Amino acid sequence: MIRRLDTLDLGGKRVFVRVDFNVPLDRERKVKDDLRIRAVLPTIRRIVDLGGKVILASHLGRPKGKVAPEFSLKPVAEYLSTLLECPVPLAPDCVGEAVREMVGRMKPGDVLMLENLRFHPGEERNDEDFSRQLAELADVYVNDAFAVSHRAHASVHGITRLVPVCAAGVQLEKEIDYFHKSMEEPRRPVAMVIGGAKVSTKIELLQNLLDKADHILIGGAMACTFLKAQGRAVGRSMVEDDFLQTARELLDMAAQKGVQVVLPVDAVVAPELDAVDEVRLVSVDAIPEEGRMLDVGSGTLEAFEAVLRGCRTVVWNGPLGVFERPPFHQGTFRLAEFLGELDALTVIGGGDSAAAVRQAGADRKVGYVSTGGGAFLEMLEGKKLPGIEALEACG
Ligand code: 3PG
Repeated sequence: MIRRLDTLDLGGKRVFVRVDFNVPLDRERKVKDDLRIRAVLPTIRRIVDLGGKVILASHLGRPKGKVAPEFSLKPVAEYLSTLLECPVPLAPDCVGEAVREMVGRMKPGDVLMLENLRFHPGEERNDEDFSRQLAELADVYVNDAFAVSHRAHASVHGITRLVPVCAAGVQLEKEIDYFHKSMEEPRRPVAMVIGGAKVSTKIELLQNLLDKADHILIGGAMACTFLKAQGRAVGRSMVEDDFLQTARELLDMAAQKGVQVVLPVDAVVAPELDAVDEVRLVSVDAIPEEGRMLDVGSGTLEAFEAVLRGCRTVVWNGPLGVFERPPFHQGTFRLAEFLGELDALTVIGGGDSAAAVRQAGADRKVGYVSTGGGAFLEMLEGKKLPGIEALEACG
């Protein structure tokens, strides 16, 4: 059992909250996408309301254990301060004397942001000494960082053995709850829409889904490997030839288990991404030699929609086309809009699909958009996340 935040007495306590503020920044180093920041506001507000002192800790990017100003959390602290309408000072580091002093001066209801955890090699190494230095700052540990819970890092894992009280934040609880409703005890029929570029990154996921889903709908460039495995010519589309046999085996396994696999029936093709004048919609049986499949076609979307209309649970991971490059966004956006209107539990996860749903303006209409990228993928693969297991072990 994982402890919940609202069962804790937090008055006057120093509450170390692991958040995932690994958010995209633009060229001016301004926050470009604030999903992960907004997601933890309920946890921060709850701790403040209960008179706790909020110490926020996150990583940003991959500075590889060294201080690198371009990975400073300063823009995030400023952004959060605007959202919360209160000061959010940024500590000069995440451990050390200066940080301890800042924490020592905090009053109930104060919010402090620590500097990037990954400026220290001990974070990713799950180093005991580094975990202890973080733990010394806290009376209570809260994990509200689902998106990094697949990493056994010091602030996600090691620290939980050293702080006397550990709990899940509001957002993490929500992620676990939606995962349970969509993957563990879903209302059937269940459809999984899987897209993205490479089959090789989704094999474990597809294998696991064969035991969970009634229908698996495949889009994105990875569909081309399946189409080629079925003997189709896919022109210059991206194909992982090393995985043709795996694709065949997956299709066979699906047939044995009675899982319907729906592959694209048509494709939006062009010789190159920027050859927008040469874009054509063709059947998957007529992809020209020089053509690359860059999006699914309208016939595929109709076929997908026909299946999805009959489902009560839909999970979506991975875009259906190169959605960052119009006109190849249409399949992905249309699916996002369709799921926004569908009368079913719809759960979307993975950095790209979540971004596409927001760009299509469907994020408030779908059931749930996960904050997880890699973490969401690992959950779909059926793996236990170390950050969640660590909280379970604390009881
Ligand atoms: C993510 O963005 O998926 C998380 O913040 C984890 O980041 P990482 O892949 O650099 O560990």
